[in-house]
Amino acid sequence: MSSDIAVGIHDLSFASTEFVLPHTALAAHNGTEIGKYHIGIGQQSMSVPAADEDIVTMAAAAAAPLVAAHGSDRIRTVVFATESSIDQAKAAGIYVHSLLQLPSACRVVELKQACYGATAALQFALGLIRRDPAQQVLVIASDVSKYELDSPGEATQGAAAVAMLVGADPALLRIEDRSGLFTADVMDFWRPNYRDAALVDGQESINAYLQAVEGAFKDYSEQGGRTLEEFAAFCYHQPFTKMAYKAHRHLLNYCGADTDKEAVEAAIGLTTAYNTVIGNSYTASVYLGLAALLDQADDLTGRPIGLFSYGSGSVAEFFAATPVAGYREHLRTKANRATIERRTPLDYAGYRDLHQRTFPGDGGDHPTEAQTTGPFRLAALRDHKRIYEAR
Ligand code: HMG
Repeated sequence: MSSDIAVGIHDLSFASTEFVLPHTALAAHNGTEIGKYHIGIGQQSMSVPAADEDIVTMAAAAAAPLVAAHGSDRIRTVVFATESSIDQAKAAGIYVHSLLQLPSACRVVELKQACYGATAALQFALGLIRRDPAQQVLVIASDVSKYELDSPGEATQGAAAVAMLVGADPALLRIEDRSGLFTADVMDFWRPNYRDAALVDGQESINAYLQAVEGAFKDYSEQGGRTLEEFAAFCYHQPFTKMAYKAHRHLLNYCGADTDKEAVEAAIGLTTAYNTVIGNSYTASVYLGLAALLDQADDLTGRPIGLFSYGSGSVAEFFAATPVAGYREHLRTKANRATIERRTPLDYAGYRDLHQRTFPGDGGDHPTEAQTTGPFRLAALRDHKRIYEAR
């Protein structure tokens, strides 16, 4: 079904953490040749949350500028996508709803399917807008990517939140109805409820991702989707930025297209600028790629962008988004760069200390160390409840 109402992303903002660990510090600790990080996986640094930051503080910081710019009167739904959930029952979005003083006439829900969750949230939002174009939906993707210390996954950690205001007649991008879908039951990456660090079979996860690229694009084509040549650029989920290059080469091969190095760079290069310094932000990753592309590319008005969202386990979706006339006036390029530049570099010992911190599950009063200079903080865990503060 297709409709002539334009629906899509009206505004997009992102937040990250107080701290950042340069890969040079990790390499010096574990004796890795830095080329493996900088070139082999394409990562320069990774965002590290302060003791008083989590998915809620990042999400509220990402969404606050949207609410400040557009008000909240039309927001009747908040969909919070994450795979680093803080509670098995309560949706993290309810804390954000409270911190941002959103209207009580609102539904708030959390969605999960690894890194794919935000795309499910976006599609859910688009359906709601089609039903009632007067409403807006706040879609938030927020994650902290955490692997075991001294494991191969460690170099692919990171953290960020992206907030998107989704509505009719969007100021940034129109999202097309047609999607290519792919699901396969694979154990490439997972996190049982009793662990806070993910388990992963690295090579299996790369293979599963590439199979999903092929499967989702095959379905997209069978649904009558656009051809490769129609896209100005491709935004892939980026667990590490080199993965986008592997994915795009795989797609070109699958389609029998030329895998010329310059053509791949032209299609992918600009999308990696934020992810290479933030690291894997799971649900937020593909939308950070989109922000980086829009912030740096020449005018893309009317030129479709292909988005590929992948979540281990696995579910994938390929779809198209087209920048609308005047979109460049609504970008948050300066704020986005400031979000990246405001982070304070950690040394290896400081990073390790933060990585190992956990709250005891004893129901006591556990104030957090005041570290973040951001607009929201997790002040304590008290009586098994998370206590947040807005500055
Ligand atoms: P590893 O074993 O540390 O690294 O694991 P490697 O030996 O495979 O080397 C990585 C690359 O660096 C290779 O390049 C090397 O040749 C190169 P490739 O063959 O891949 O092109 N290399 C060098 N290059 C230049 N100079 C050097 C040098 N040395 C080596 N000196 C791995 C890497 C990514 C597997 C690991 O970090 C990992 O397990 N990460 C976590 C899993 C992951 O990110 N998987 C990605 C796909 S799954 C996904 O995207 C979903 C996910 O986001 C979760 C979700 O959905 O919720 C993870």
